[in-house]
Amino acid sequence: MGRLFAFYKTPNPMLLTLPNILDAKDLQVADQLLANAPWADGKGSAGSQAAQVKNNHQLPYDCEASQAISAMVTRGLERHALFLTAALPRKLFTPRINRYSGAANHYGNHVDSAIRTLPGGQRVRTDVSCSVFLSNPEDYDGGELTIADTYGEQRIKLPAGHAVLYPGTSLHQVTPVTRGERLACFFWVESLVRSDEQRRLLFDMDMALMRLRQAHGESAATTALTGTYHNLLRMWADT
Ligand code: NI
Repeated sequence: MGRLFAFYKTPNPMLLTLPNILDAKDLQVADQLLANAPWADGKGSAGSQAAQVKNNHQLPYDCEASQAISAMVTRGLERHALFLTAALPRKLFTPRINRYSGAANHYGNHVDSAIRTLPGGQRVRTDVSCSVFLSNPEDYDGGELTIADTYGEQRIKLPAGHAVLYPGTSLHQVTPVTRGERLACFFWVESLVRSDEQRRLLFDMDMALMRLRQAHGESAATTALTGTYHNLLRMWADT
């Protein structure tokens, strides 16, 4: 099995771990930038229901740390095959950075707003949510990203540099951080394929095709199935 599907082992691929969006060098740069960053109240960017349960800090989108980390994350995503096939990105809402620590340490249950507006006025539909962990799990207690899905509640806490991808439709929360600080980068993707169900079918098919190719090489059958993949994508995608 190749590196690409080493992390694809749960029956629920719409909750997907993306390893190493940022590497050790990126994380070191991020740490330095975040040490003296201009943190602000996180409520500023939340919708009215979410603002009532949101208690964290966030960086202004235009500060140096935000812009540099956002650019690193975007570069990491663009070269990440698993991200591209799972999210089928059409537009990205600029990655933002948040912090949970001290008295500003949690974000209660909410569903993210369906539409976000970029600073330039462009709207992004939040089909897929993503969090990139910037702190290591041993640096804080609590702070789990808890996502409700069909099979129950998933509790997510990943090594620094790893990301989790989950449907924008999910009810989720960040549990209180009781020690240390939890830094993360978060953003949304408007997908070429709006429906979670259709996106998941395409992802499953793409993964199965890669396994087929690895096991048996190229054949008339893989060529035909690749054609079917693209014809489904053509039917379901909006560019
Ligand atoms: Ni949220």
